[in-house]
Amino acid sequence: GLPERVTIYEVGPRDGLQNESAIVDVAVKAEFIRRLVDAGLTTVETTSFVHPKWVPQLADAAELLEQLELPDGVRAPVLVPNERGLDRALAASVGEIAIFASATETFAAKNLNSTLDDQFAMFTPTIQRALAEGLAVRGYVSMCYGDPWEGDVPIDQVVKVGARLVELGCHELSLGDTIGVATPGQVSALVTAFGAAGVPVGKLAVHFHDTYGQALANTLTALREGVTTVDSSAGGLGGCPYAESATGNLATEDLLWQLDGLGIETGVDLEALVTTSTWMAEQLGKPSPSRVVQALAG
Ligand code: HMG
Ligand code: MG
Repeated sequence: GLPERVTIYEVGPRDGLQNESAIVDVAVKAEFIRRLVDAGLTTVETTSFVHPKWVPQLADAAELLEQLELPDGVRAPVLVPNERGLDRALAASVGEIAIFASATETFAAKNLNSTLDDQFAMFTPTIQRALAEGLAVRGYVSMCYGDPWEGDVPIDQVVKVGARLVELGCHELSLGDTIGVATPGQVSALVTAFGAAGVPVGKLAVHFHDTYGQALANTLTALREGVTTVDSSAGGLGGCPYAESATGNLATEDLLWQLDGLGIETGVDLEALVTTSTWMAEQLGKPSPSRVVQALAG
């Protein structure tokens, strides 16, 4: 069966804008987030407190959060890799952070300057302190289905990393197809493997990039497996600066077209979202890659 309701976890302002070559003005980012919330999105990942030299596109995180006034009930998590990032997030009064782990050795080195094991030395005190401060902590696992340097990723390795994040207290685990190579059979197998390892499907979210055009098929597969939280990026913005072959995330509009068609509730208004992504594309000076935005914006 399919769920009656799905939570869309919007990552455009973070996963989208972190990969744009242009540095977007902080006022434009704030306007983008306001419009996403006005369109009905209730969870918007706004920015990252990572090293500003690693991701200069999001170096204005503190300034952005200062400019944001979000209505009650809107979750606005931020990416945090370590305790220094947590200090900055706490200073900005965030209510939720997201830790991002790698399922592979190479990506742990390239994205976190760490190793598969050592990344947990960074995450453990960060998660413990965040929880003690009353923050909710989401966990990501990157390179769940394939890695551009290592190729296939053993499913046990992915489950081990993810289960460890859940043990540390992450309330939700987002399974990242960082480079967009997954196909539906892999998605079913991974959800099943997490279940067998004691991580229930209710804790899982899926995070697809659309490099090979499989994101919607993968999403539908995940929904049939019982997943009810789906990450996506308005207009299909995105990629990952430390994984060259990655393109944008699954577009929120493409996701919404499918969910609306299936009669699955989200609370998000497609027309308002298309208008927002069209406006954002103008700001960036390039068309949205979303098929639904292209079809409806004309
Ligand atoms: P490092 O260089 O090893 O850091 O980077 P360090 O701990 O050795 O510290 C070096 C200096 O950086 C120190 O300053 C620290 O204070 C400072 P110094 O004492 O030399 O003056 N520093 C910081 N400053 C500001 N904010 C911080 C911070 N941390 C240290 N948070 C580090 C390690 C993790 C910081 C670095 O590798 C990093 O920032 N990586 C982030 C990369 C990134 O953001 N990638 C994209 C997000 S992941 C993604 O997109 C995937 C996802 O979408 C899911 C999917 O698709 O799979 C989530
Ligand atoms: Mg991503």
